[in-house]
Amino acid sequence: MSESSTLDARALLEAARAAREQAYAPYSRFRVGAALLTADGTVIPGCNVENVSYGLTVCAERVAVSNAIAQGHRTFTAVAIATGTAQATPPCGMCRQVLFEFAPDLVVVLPPPEGSEAEPEQVPLREFLPRGFGPSDLSAGIDP
Ligand code: THU
Repeated sequence: MSESSTLDARALLEAARAAREQAYAPYSRFRVGAALLTADGTVIPGCNVENVSYGLTVCAERVAVSNAIAQGHRTFTAVAIATGTAQATPPCGMCRQVLFEFAPDLVVVLPPPEGSEAEPEQVPLREFLPRGFGPSDLSAGIDP
């Protein structure tokens, strides 16, 4: 059975919702939570962390990746993203690239529309970032 078919998407989404409670978003008031699932089944949380110098803001997904790396995890199978919107929020372009660095085959778990009892959506990261630039592209082109 593949990793994605054994994935407990609802549980991962719940972890993302819990992480969202910690968001620091006084400027946008748009709180985001992320939960990154590692290959060994560990769930690593992330939330957006804003700054009065707005451009320094870090998204929930990138906080989760940094948090995971700092804890020694490098292999990820899925990430769930939770916001307060009625429709699912896709990861921003910068987060797509950062996720792709470690997990080009990642599954992105998004909530069903508000009020729906449907299962969470599971979308390949490659759908959000087709033909992404990854570590192997760099090593292929380094001058001697
Ligand atoms: N944000 C995320 O945390 N993840 C995304 O993928 C999109 C945007 C945050 C950044 C900022 O704190 C707020 O949402 C509004 O852009």
